[in-house]
Amino acid sequence: MSLIFEKVGKRYPDGTIALTDISFEVPRGQFCVVLGRSGAGKSTLLKCVNGLAVPSEGRVSVDGVSVTPRTLAKLRPQVGMIHQSFNLVPRASVATNVIAGALPAVSTPRAILGLFPKALREKACALIAEVGLDEEHLTRRAAALSGGQQQRVGVARAFMLDPPYVLADEPVASLDPQTSIDILALLEREAKERGAAVLCSLHQIDLAMRFADRIVALRDGRLVFDGPPDALADGRIRHIYGSPRLETSISRQAVGA
Ligand SMILES: Nc1ncnc2c1ncn2[C@@H]1O[C@H](COP(=O)(O)OP(=O)(O)OP(=O)(O)O)[C@@H](O)[C@H]1O
Ligand SMILES: [Mg+2]
Repeated sequence: MSLIFEKVGKRYPDGTIALTDISFEVPRGQFCVVLGRSGAGKSTLLKCVNGLAVPSEGRVSVDGVSVTPRTLAKLRPQVGMIHQSFNLVPRASVATNVIAGALPAVSTPRAILGLFPKALREKACALIAEVGLDEEHLTRRAAALSGGQQQRVGVARAFMLDPPYVLADEPVASLDPQTSIDILALLEREAKERGAAVLCSLHQIDLAMRFADRIVALRDGRLVFDGPPDALADGRIRHIYGSPRLETSISRQAVGA
């Protein structure tokens, strides 16, 4: 029961090579953080799991099933995603956006009519509370929320179907420090208590060190580190981020200085 990348490569139609020869496996129950500077290929890697990006080489499999256009409909309910750019429906309410996370499990005519079972509606409300949004936000349009509030709606939506695989693309990018910790703790619980495999890209090395069971790092689309957080010494951080100017501040951040 795991998520497997086997020799995955991704070349976009314009010729950009985003990933090269990526192989690793994330078992259920593991919180795996992906690090790497901007443009390293983190989002592309996550998108290869749910069909938003199609690998040009190699394959991705979920519980032994290769991700292909034919298997995607079956795999969708199993893979929840928190998007870097939220991907909310701006004119729809918070409640509608969250409950939309259950669409892969609801028949199309019922979904069009907005007929979601009571259990799903209750679940949406519970998740909205869990991510720290007050009840008063339920009926607000997503477009009227702050970036951090929208991000929390995206987190709640990803958990509607209790997916065994969770992709989180910079899930705390626009959140304040305490809410960031709360959201990462929630992701950690998904892994530890529900046994989900969580693959989460982050820019905050300190949070990665604190929450991850394992860290993989990309540089220019290649895997340059794969190990437990305590193996991520300063020299390796320099290797991942590569810029002499960034090094000092990142190293300080990593040691909590
Ligand atoms: N649709 C696309 N078409 C062409 N190139 C793309 C596309 N999406 C991403 N890229 C390129 O692929 C590379 C990896 O991008 P990706 O978005 O995966 O990086 P990232 O690590 O998520 O960066 P960030 O930290 O800024 O979110 C970059 O060079 C980017 O410009
Ligand atoms: Mg990205």
